[in-house]
Amino acid sequence: MGGLARLEYRGYDSAGVAVLNNGKLETEKRAGKLANLRSALENRPRSADGIGIGHTRWATHGAPNDVNAHPHVDNHNRVAVIHNGIIENFASLRLELEERGCKFLSETDTEVASHLLSEELKDRGDGDLAAAMRGICHRLEGAFTLVAMSVDDPELVVAARRNSPLVVGRGKGENFLASDVAAFIAHTRDAIELGQDQVVELRPDSVTVTDYDGTPVPVREYHVDWDASAAEKGGYDYFMLKEIAEQPRAVADTLLGRVAVDGTLTLDEMRLAPEELRDINKIVIIACGTSYHAGLIAKYAIEHWCRIPCEVEVASEFRYRDPILDRQTMVIAISQSGESMDTLMAVRYAREQRARVLAICNVNGSTIPRESDGVLYTHAGPEVGVAATKTFLTQLIACYLVGLYLAQVRNLKFGDEVNAVIEQLSGMPEQVERVLSMMEPMRDLARSLSGANTVLFLGRHVGYPVAMEGALKLKELAYMHAEAFAAGELKHGSIALIEEGVPVVVVVPSREGRSVLHDKIVSNIQEIRARGARTIVIAEEGDEKVRPYADTLIEIPAVPTLLQPIVATVPMQVFASELALAKGNDVDQPRNLAKSVTVE
Ligand code: G6P
Repeated sequence: MGGLARLEYRGYDSAGVAVLNNGKLETEKRAGKLANLRSALENRPRSADGIGIGHTRWATHGAPNDVNAHPHVDNHNRVAVIHNGIIENFASLRLELEERGCKFLSETDTEVASHLLSEELKDRGDGDLAAAMRGICHRLEGAFTLVAMSVDDPELVVAARRNSPLVVGRGKGENFLASDVAAFIAHTRDAIELGQDQVVELRPDSVTVTDYDGTPVPVREYHVDWDASAAEKGGYDYFMLKEIAEQPRAVADTLLGRVAVDGTLTLDEMRLAPEELRDINKIVIIACGTSYHAGLIAKYAIEHWCRIPCEVEVASEFRYRDPILDRQTMVIAISQSGESMDTLMAVRYAREQRARVLAICNVNGSTIPRESDGVLYTHAGPEVGVAATKTFLTQLIACYLVGLYLAQVRNLKFGDEVNAVIEQLSGMPEQVERVLSMMEPMRDLARSLSGANTVLFLGRHVGYPVAMEGALKLKELAYMHAEAFAAGELKHGSIALIEEGVPVVVVVPSREGRSVLHDKIVSNIQEIRARGARTIVIAEEGDEKVRPYADTLIEIPAVPTLLQPIVATVPMQVFASELALAKGNDVDQPRNLAKSVTVE
């Protein structure tokens, strides 16, 4: 149950377990959060046989009720299966299985796997669950991780992996399988990465990995560099609040070892040679959700420092519009989890087009970095809250490092500016620490706005994606209508939304260098205020020009323009989490969401 609790961030609309008890398969499944399953299990005797499988679900096919929860069993109650992903050809398989007499109880795509496995075992007649699993995988289309157990072999769990994540944990006299190491980190930090189209047979004292044809394959073992305490709340009521507070450390860890005293950047782990980087003439950034916002900010920095055209696109749109890519294109895939299916599919597409793919990722050994040409890891540590916070800030750091490194290897004339920024980056952990200590007014304000129907966000330049991130956070956590606009674009239509009392959060650009932008946003604030908006202004300390037009002024430390998102995002996180708490929402597990979305 502890393992499932650590995986709950991946989906929490229902949960279930199957265990063997004196050779009999017993399942328990409940709609809703894990707590419901936990209370259902309280009155049941514990399993005697030691093996079991469990699942927390984010529904794709079929409503999140008890019946559709996993595990799914066959009609003879001999095989239990859990599944992550989507079996795309489930409808035709279901028809075929119904013709063979199988009775379906749920509306899920997963249930075809339990019946197929049962039929395959029947046809084989040898009780070999692993062979049966290999047999059925050839027939399944789509993305899946399947984990199965059967009454015929009470020491065996078999799993198959295509596209959806799966890792093995190696203990002493016990082994584990999970979508994420967090599930077994309290028992072991030794893990094995599984590749595409592999089947693993897990017994208490052995782990065997083969391909779908049964040929053994070599595996990569690794040690997880964080322990169970990193995935605990550590005195905070919510993981998200702890993760917001951890940001100075996360930023420092992501910079660690990458910036030499003389300002040279060492990013050898990127696995992309300087000659390859010099050859690049276009950059395309692909990502989803919050990671996409990191990409939008990266574009400003990379184009300015490197003078390489840079496009940013949501991963789910990318491969469907026939994008122009070649060997001189560098695709940067940003993904906290390294498992978002939309991003993974975009990465595969980009590699087919011969682009060089660099992943920016927080989870060691996850699929996207494995399938990319190079990777730059963020070192935020495990993030459990569904809404991304510390991983976003570290993604920004990683993007800046990539941009600065590219500028360095390409010897660009911006040398002086680049060197100055590298130095300023080292001061960012301290600036994030400071902005966190300045957030009390933001908390007070958020609590007073819990009755608002809508909140608008405005920004210019890098402040625009920061505004987008602010709006996304508010939607995710407080379930409120929120929308971000480029401040200059507002007058072209959306200004019609402004009426008496509508709260508008404005990110004011840094005053450094680009005072034109600063002046322009001061005018934009006046325009909306004249129409009744309640202005919530996020501006640098000591910005007196903006003060007269701010109904509430939230001050942040003054940092260079391009780095401002690192500090300006923090008030957005505090605002959304505080407002959500004021409304009584669960900020770690917002409704309908999952942290890692492994379906398209
Ligand atoms: C989900 C999460 C978002 C996250 C997005 C991208 O939708 O709810 O918070 O930003 O996935 O995730 P990734 O792991 O690829 O960064």
